[in-house]
Amino acid sequence: MIKVAFFSVKPYDEDIFNAHINSANSKDTERGLSRDKLQASYFTYPLNEHTAISCQGFDAVCVFVNDEVNKATLTTLAKLGIKHVALRCAGFNNVDVKAAKTLAIAVTRVPAYSPETVAEHTLALMLTLNRKTHKAYNRVKEGNFSLDGLMGFTLHNKTVGIIGSGKIGQAVIRILTGFGCNILCYDPAPCQKLIDLGVRYTTLEDLFVSSQIVSLHCPLTHATEHIINAKSLALMPKGVMLINTSRGGLVDDKAVIHALKQGHLGYLGLDVYERESELFFSDHSQDIIQDDTFQRLLTFPNVLVTGHQGFFTHEALNEIANTTLKNIHSCANGCLKTTGENWVR
Ligand code: NAI
Repeated sequence: MIKVAFFSVKPYDEDIFNAHINSANSKDTERGLSRDKLQASYFTYPLNEHTAISCQGFDAVCVFVNDEVNKATLTTLAKLGIKHVALRCAGFNNVDVKAAKTLAIAVTRVPAYSPETVAEHTLALMLTLNRKTHKAYNRVKEGNFSLDGLMGFTLHNKTVGIIGSGKIGQAVIRILTGFGCNILCYDPAPCQKLIDLGVRYTTLEDLFVSSQIVSLHCPLTHATEHIINAKSLALMPKGVMLINTSRGGLVDDKAVIHALKQGHLGYLGLDVYERESELFFSDHSQDIIQDDTFQRLLTFPNVLVTGHQGFFTHEALNEIANTTLKNIHSCANGCLKTTGENWVR
């Protein structure tokens, strides 16, 4: 039996993982396979250095984007005999990978469950902000058919700057190409396939100067933290649209608020926020939210925030569960190498 503690679990996680675990267990029985069965325990609270103690008796932990898998958490996990941290997401900025290596704890993730899922949400933010369908919906419901304040711009022929042309960046580019947009990219590892398709790579500065829309699709690292700051915002043209569906830490919120107040930043679409762990994935509708920066962002008419739902489709969740469970079985059976790209080293 492989005992796994799942953290930050929502009802939809439990449903989908149980369905996959039960189906795998019955398939194994049908085929006479003697593979270790997986036993899941679901905790709604996050994994961090204070809660790691609850991992006594488990073989592995399964975590999400806002669990704090820092050195202190990992040290407790190692003492309790945990051998594997299985991320059920793509980004791994919340894990101290170096500490995990020193403590001989394997770390796996789901690098590509459905790049199109996040790309489509990115487009949803762009189109909603631009054509203001969220405002039109409410107006029309109340019998107000005035178009005042709803004017947008045509995407066709606009230049969109993509920072990070990996799997999600490329999916966004494919969609935007269909809209007839010109694409500029910045990525330290340019993709030849995109160059062959006519996509132009440029410097970060040129991308900021030349784009009417800037969309972030790079991971959060030391190099990319606050890649959007007062200096980069000043380089962008007045009225620019900024979209972040990657990680909150890429954006300096204070600089963004200043640019919004100046009327320089024309549109802001966020699916992620630097301090989202205190807010996102829970109902705070009856609470007094203490994060003044976040609350200030919500006051702007040209800001649209979604609560980290870029990944949230049936297809993506099924793929996440499937790959995460494969990773857990591979690690438990000592076949870490078979996890290939999923293994964070
Ligand atoms: P990927 O690994 O396929 O692509 C990331 C790209 O960023 C790579 O091409 C890499 O070379 C590039 N990059 C690295 N450092 C850079 C830098 N300093 N400047 C510019 N580019 C840089 O990752 P993928 O799958 O495209 O995901 C991108 C990010 O999207 C993830 O790191 C994650 O943070 C975020 N994400 C958000 C989700 C959501 O629900 N909102 C869901 C899944 C991922």
